[in-house]
Amino acid sequence: RVVVLDFGGQYNQLIARRIRDLHVYSELLPHDTKAEQLREMNVVGIVFSGGPRSVYDEGAPMVDPNIYELGIPILGICYGMQLMARDFHAHVDRAHAREYGKATIETQVQTALFENTPAHQNVWMSHSDIVTAVPLHFQIDAVTASAPVAAMSSPERKLYGVQFHPEVQHTEHGNDMLRNFLYTICGCKADWSMDSYVDRAVEEIRAKVGDKRVLMALSGGVDSSVTAALIHRAIGDRLTCVFVDHGLLRLGEGEQVMEMFDGVFHMDIRKLDKSDRFFALLRDVVDPEIKRKRIGSEFVKVFDEMAKELGDYEFLGQGTLYTDIIESGTKTAATIKSHHNVGGLPKDMRFELIEPLRSLFKDEARALGEELGLPHAFVWRQPFPGPGLAIRVMGEVTPERVAILQKADAIVREEVLKNGLDKEIWQYFAVLTDTHSVGVMGDERTYFATVAIRAVTSRDGMTAEFAHIPYDILSVMSNRICNEVAGVNRVVYDVTSKPPATIEWE
Ligand code: XMP
Repeated sequence: RVVVLDFGGQYNQLIARRIRDLHVYSELLPHDTKAEQLREMNVVGIVFSGGPRSVYDEGAPMVDPNIYELGIPILGICYGMQLMARDFHAHVDRAHAREYGKATIETQVQTALFENTPAHQNVWMSHSDIVTAVPLHFQIDAVTASAPVAAMSSPERKLYGVQFHPEVQHTEHGNDMLRNFLYTICGCKADWSMDSYVDRAVEEIRAKVGDKRVLMALSGGVDSSVTAALIHRAIGDRLTCVFVDHGLLRLGEGEQVMEMFDGVFHMDIRKLDKSDRFFALLRDVVDPEIKRKRIGSEFVKVFDEMAKELGDYEFLGQGTLYTDIIESGTKTAATIKSHHNVGGLPKDMRFELIEPLRSLFKDEARALGEELGLPHAFVWRQPFPGPGLAIRVMGEVTPERVAILQKADAIVREEVLKNGLDKEIWQYFAVLTDTHSVGVMGDERTYFATVAIRAVTSRDGMTAEFAHIPYDILSVMSNRICNEVAGVNRVVYDVTSKPPATIEWE
């Protein structure tokens, strides 16, 4: 496998992702992973990722210096290259101007990394520090108009650094460079695929769980269903799945999910109705982070009680994806929102977690679901967040307000499906805003709530664009919502992408 050491930044997992797309297994590990651990893992290549810090900052993330002694090829990207330069005693300077965006590099030496790429090519830069001179025994491989060292290497030691980002699409030949690094420099074979992911994950789950038992938090969504199928394949009947109805599900969802599972899974699945508890917990709460954290820790409490009632469970299975982890904040990345299954977990939780999808993106989780033989319709359900409608009701979450949202949301979903738009739209739903406005219905003044329709296209949920739903379909949705849902007199369409917004409103 090839390991990417993480120095922060929202898009670092993309590097691991691009490597997997080239059929080599890759995962992201913390920057302070020890050399010994990498040796034991049979790592054949290491990438130092980019990051927001300067290598001379106090507390700037470093690597175990013994990593350079392993003889494993290393590719340093941006901060990764600056770190490599610093570790070999070259000078890194603050650039006079920050360099963001497109730049043209000119290669000086056609190293293995640049094989089959042109001498002048466009790359994507995003940095404020630069390497001004290479360390002893290193050579300058490429320059730009403003960076005297845009790429450097010490080919005998298989150390390579690039100031730009080969993992982003705007670097024209970035994929070729990653391919060169993997196949030529590290000697990898393109033999990894999702079926080997299944084998590896099953082995890892077996090794971790031993002869113990796992309680699985099933939500009916893609991620937890795929996780359950994977754990079931690994340990069979020692898995118990629990589906908690927190009262914040979509209209009719509780029953639908159980029906769906009945036909597909042959495992022990229990449904618990805990809506009273969750509503009590959310009374008067308007802050989205507090909602998320309360729901996250209440989930664990429910599982805890269930575990005590049913016997011994040491592990809690969760369908956590990489997106959940990075947005909840890590040692090196900022918190965007606390996903219920990561940032919302209580500190004193007694379960150990089993999260076999934690390094995957949503579309990879879906590919894994297909590989495991789950039905297509199941695998392609639109994502639904664990905290459910609580984070789609702005302001206080009450059973009455949730009921309004459920009805409006059902109309949005129905119209999307009726018009066959579900294939191209990643997520589509309604949001109950905390805005009231004046309307007129049947000669009477109304002062009712505003519903927003949110629909986005996306590949992996990390970035998204608002979906271009035709006006006549939006018009039907709007008419139906105002006519059929009491308490709503206005409907708006959200025309924001991610970034700057996020997909969910909270
Ligand atoms: P955002 O709103 O951050 O969402 O653009 C990205 C994707 O993640 C889903 N999401 C969640 N999923 N627990 C989950 O299981 C959560 O707490 C959570 N918050 C957001 C969201 O629906 C979108 O698909």
